Amino acid sequence: MEPIEIAQGVYDVGVTDWNVRDFHGYSTDLGTTYNAYLIIDEKITLIDTVREGFAGQLLENISRIIDPKSIDYVISNHSEMDHSGGLARVMHRIGADKPIYCSKMGHKNLPKHFTPGWNFHPVATDQELSLGNRTLTFLETRMIHWPDSMFTYLNENQILFSSDGFGQHYAGPEKFDDQIDDATVMYHAKKYFANILLLYSAHIQKLLQKVLDLGLDFKMICPDHGIIWRKDPKKIMDAYVKWCRQKPHKKAVVVYDTMWHSTEKMAEAIVAGIAKEGVPAKPLHLRKWHRSEVMTEVFDAKAIVVGSPTLNNQLFPSLADFLTYMKGLKPLNKIGAAFGSYGWSGEAVKLINQELEAMKFEVIDPGLRIQYVPDKAALEVCYEFGRKIGKAV
Ligand code: FEO
Repeated sequence: MEPIEIAQGVYDVGVTDWNVRDFHGYSTDLGTTYNAYLIIDEKITLIDTVREGFAGQLLENISRIIDPKSIDYVISNHSEMDHSGGLARVMHRIGADKPIYCSKMGHKNLPKHFTPGWNFHPVATDQELSLGNRTLTFLETRMIHWPDSMFTYLNENQILFSSDGFGQHYAGPEKFDDQIDDATVMYHAKKYFANILLLYSAHIQKLLQKVLDLGLDFKMICPDHGIIWRKDPKKIMDAYVKWCRQKPHKKAVVVYDTMWHSTEKMAEAIVAGIAKEGVPAKPLHLRKWHRSEVMTEVFDAKAIVVGSPTLNNQLFPSLADFLTYMKGLKPLNKIGAAFGSYGWSGEAVKLINQELEAMKFEVIDPGLRIQYVPDKAALEVCYEFGRKIGKAV
């Protein structure tokens, strides 16, 4: 991707990773972008870098505008390697003595990724940095997404460089929110929030309030992944405020795996029962749906119904994977129930219930077990189980 001038003297010099399909366990079916920004002022400033393997493309993009050696300042909003991986090569090219501005936690974390010795300048919230004609203000935003994360605000242009905040793992021909349909960009923003930031919701809610209390206007919000928000930056801010509250919709998801289609038949009968009560519900087979897509569905659902066959006295492995993943993301305000087909010992339902309780879900039924293949009568029991869940949503 060629650099794009997003405002006068401000360029996106980042790169598109068209082929990444697994981003530490998150499905990136369309790829993603590592956005980085160059501000041309009396002091030329680079905000963030890119994943290590793309550092050459980043430097090429910068070279189309200026000689990289003329960069005066580097801002590192976040030490995770999709944004800092290119730092070593950039510093080697521009001069290892150039100042790097980062949060206090960034100052602790970056040297643990790279050979120490760079010219770090830790900054705090409200601290400013003059670029000559324009000024940057720093805002520490711990846990959006790591303890070192911060936002950088370009005062005169009212542009917020928000690092992981408000990002989406989306790669396409579009760069701005006015070039893509709302449903697509909001889906990817929601998926990103549900799979990366959800566990920090309460903290993010407070941080966003602090940012809003500063009374700043935002003409543009520039995340480090995906589409830039310029048509209506408030829209994504408002969405984050809403998402942080985790108020579920009247909706159920039935997440399951199956060995010989018995748990699958149960899942579909349960979905039909839930739907009978006027609650939208979907069966999500864990070997057809990626865990990060399932989590996006779980995010705004009230009822999470989990089904597993018993395999060697345990949960089916895909369920163990998913329950571990969901537990780490700490979804709130859910009701839950378990089901599954079994042959002889049938521990899976008990094990699922233990996990749901550990997640503080309200478990609304002891769970439903059917031995071997559900017949018509057993499927009627599943249907009624679904109706009970539907009534509770
Ligand atoms: Fe895009 Fe937390 O890194």
